[in-house]
Amino acid sequence: MTDGMRKLAIDSIRLCHAPYSGFRVSAVLEDSEGRLHPGVNIENASYGLTLCAERSALAGAVSRGATSFTRIMVHSPDGPAHPCGACRQVLAEFCGDSFEVIVLTPEGTTVETTLGTLLPSAFRLRTDSR
Ligand code: THU
Repeated sequence: MTDGMRKLAIDSIRLCHAPYSGFRVSAVLEDSEGRLHPGVNIENASYGLTLCAERSALAGAVSRGATSFTRIMVHSPDGPAHPCGACRQVLAEFCGDSFEVIVLTPEGTTVETTLGTLLPSAFRLRTDSR
């Protein structure tokens, strides 16, 4: 069921822009219509401006009109990549507590959890989790 996400996550790694950390991350966000939205980390010479793969995927998806999401796969060949705190909060703007987070490890195994587990009592002003 996650084969398409897995393939896209692995294929997208070549697009990462991570010349400073050398840590490449891709993310594939699935919307409620089953469309897949890939993203990669995009680093900057001013390090703090780095965009994580998850936020890159979300920005692309929302820019294409997607606003409702079921799950995300996060992958790095360089180490296990669990979404950082900032990405958890940004995902919470559009995704509810039951939104699935799947980490694809360098070894090809998966770790599955939910946004509600990763970010309990998320700060949201909207109630529709859109
Ligand atoms: N990174 C992500 O893309 N997603 C995460 O959730 C964790 C960290 C990126 C940011 C940076 O380019 C590199 O990994 C090392 O921190």
